[in-house]
Amino acid sequence: MNTFTATSVLIVAISVLLIASSVQSTEQQDFINTHNAARSQVGVPNLVWDATVASYALNYANARKSDCNLVHSTGPYGENLAKGSSSTFSAISAVNLWVAEKPHYNYTTNSCTGGQQCLHYTQVVWRESVKLGCARVQCTNGWWFVTCNYDTPGNYIGDTFTTTSVLIVAISILIIASSVQSTEQQDYLNTHNAARSQVGVPNIVWNATIASYALNYANARRSDCNLVYSAGPYGENLAKGSSSTFSYRPYILYTTLTIRGKHCFHYTQVVWRDSVKLGCARVQCTNGWWFVICNYDTPGNYIGQYPY
Ligand SMILES: *[C@@H]1O[C@H](CO)[C@@H](O)[C@H](O)[C@H]1NC(C)=O
Ligand SMILES: *[C@@H]1O[C@H](CO)[C@@H](O)[C@H](O)[C@H]1NC(C)=O
Repeated sequence: MNTFTATSVLIVAISVLLIASSVQSTEQQDFINTHNAARSQVGVPNLVWDATVASYALNYANARKSDCNLVHSTGPYGENLAKGSSSTFSAISAVNLWVAEKPHYNYTTNSCTGGQQCLHYTQVVWRESVKLGCARVQCTNGWWFVTCNYDTPGNYIGDTFTTTSVLIVAISILIIASSVQSTEQQDYLNTHNAARSQVGVPNIVWNATIASYALNYANARRSDCNLVYSAGPYGENLAKGSSSTFSYRPYILYTTLTIRGKHCFHYTQVVWRDSVKLGCARVQCTNGWWFVICNYDTPGNYIGQYPY
């Protein structure tokens, strides 16, 4: 008989390190070239780098390092924002993310179609936006924040300037998912095995079958993000957090639960000696929260048994 508990914990990023960064000339050229490739496809003149606009972008990017939130600066320029969890989330990645909205823009109706976002794309190719300044910095949580500012701002609707306030973090997650997958997998393993080694339990190993099960279930929970046990053949720990930083510090959850002295079955599952195979998944729910699931084989938390 297995006993499982599910708990919701709100995690706040606790990170310290900071990496100074500035737009280097190759990165600057990447920002420009990627924009101009999209612009030339629709017959719009090239934009040019502008030091004043770039300075504004860098100032704002630095101001967002501490939370990495995709919040618009509400300054005098047009603005596109993006972020990704990997250092491979480059200038080109960010701009291509915005350009990828192109299929959702209907020129005839001059609107976004199918409830999809396209205002990042229209800002990229806005004819009158001829000056560009961008910045890319690493946030304290390890993610990469990218902002591009445009002068004059685009996305005028009638006479009204509309800031492109819709966030695209979910899309950026999809884009970078493949490149960070192995890193995240290693994070799950390392964090589990750090806890296991502290109590003399052998390392757990990644298992693709179990990881696939975890991902399937995580995807099935995206619409409600509820921490509901999947009732499958594996041991299971569930968690969710409101920040994209959540999944990268899963030990905080375990530590918190242990310290609170209430729920400890998450912890005992982590260090369960006979649970030697691991598969985890992390997805963003439709409400913006992050759902994390880890499955274990064999399942732990048999009542009447000690974990180790
Ligand atoms: C754009 O919208 C118009 C009017 O609804 C429609 O006739 C046309 O097929 C759309 N174009 C594309 C490419 O979807
Ligand atoms: C993964 O785990 C499943 C379930 O325990 C098992 O049947 C399968 O052989 C494992 N795969 C590998 C490569 O170990």
